[in-house]
Amino acid sequence: MTLAEDDPRDRLALALDFDDLVVALRLARRLRPWFGVAKVGFELFGAAGPETVSALAVEGYRVFVDLKLHDIPTTVGRAARVLGGLGAGFVTVHTQGGEEMMRAAVSGMAEGASAAGAPTPCVLGVTVLTSDTEATSDVLASRSRSAAAAGCGGLVCAASDLVVTRRWAPGLLTMVPGIRPAGTSTDDQARAATPRAAILAGADILVIGRAVTAAEDPEAMATAVAHEVASSIAAPRG
Ligand code: C5P
Repeated sequence: MTLAEDDPRDRLALALDFDDLVVALRLARRLRPWFGVAKVGFELFGAAGPETVSALAVEGYRVFVDLKLHDIPTTVGRAARVLGGLGAGFVTVHTQGGEEMMRAAVSGMAEGASAAGAPTPCVLGVTVLTSDTEATSDVLASRSRSAAAAGCGGLVCAASDLVVTRRWAPGLLTMVPGIRPAGTSTDDQARAATPRAAILAGADILVIGRAVTAAEDPEAMATAVAHEVASSIAAPRG
């Protein structure tokens, strides 16, 4: 997939971790000038369902459905067929589920999209959860390789893992959560990075939640993040 490299909005995903679609949409509208992607996780999808995807698409967002599929390949393939028809731009699967399961997700997503006349979503393999403190860099390398082999279009990983994921899955898009502007709270993020550090480490899209959504002035924080991203895009990658 291609990114408009020079538009910071294409590099910023807003994590809408809310249990209410009205609240999420209100914030999504306010922050659209700075964010091109909106992430819907279990909380919002569980509360408001598939309608969330079309509601955010109407606001001009590419929608990132973060449901981290992980089950037997047949079940994942069938779920992917349904999710593929929703019009999402990105959908996640767990790399821990293995290559066959990810293949089922990739083909199910393409079938569902084609049947619905929707664009095929980019399947992102979630590498290692920040809560998983046991996973070694060998695990990260092998999960990254199998995501690439299964046909995933990208990976979700921490900024600190980019050096490994870029090596083992060089062509894949990277979606990076755990972003914290300098001087803000890390909340429960175990491996946080600043927007600049993440972009310079090779992140394609930064996932930003509470640093902006829980800020006293979300617009001001979004402006600061977007400026940091814009100035980092032009800088050489580390
Ligand atoms: O911490 P923040 O609100 O920016 O979280 C944005 C996204 O990052 C969440 O929706 C979740 O998917 C992910 N996250 C993570 N590790 C954590 C907490 C959240 O990767 N410890």
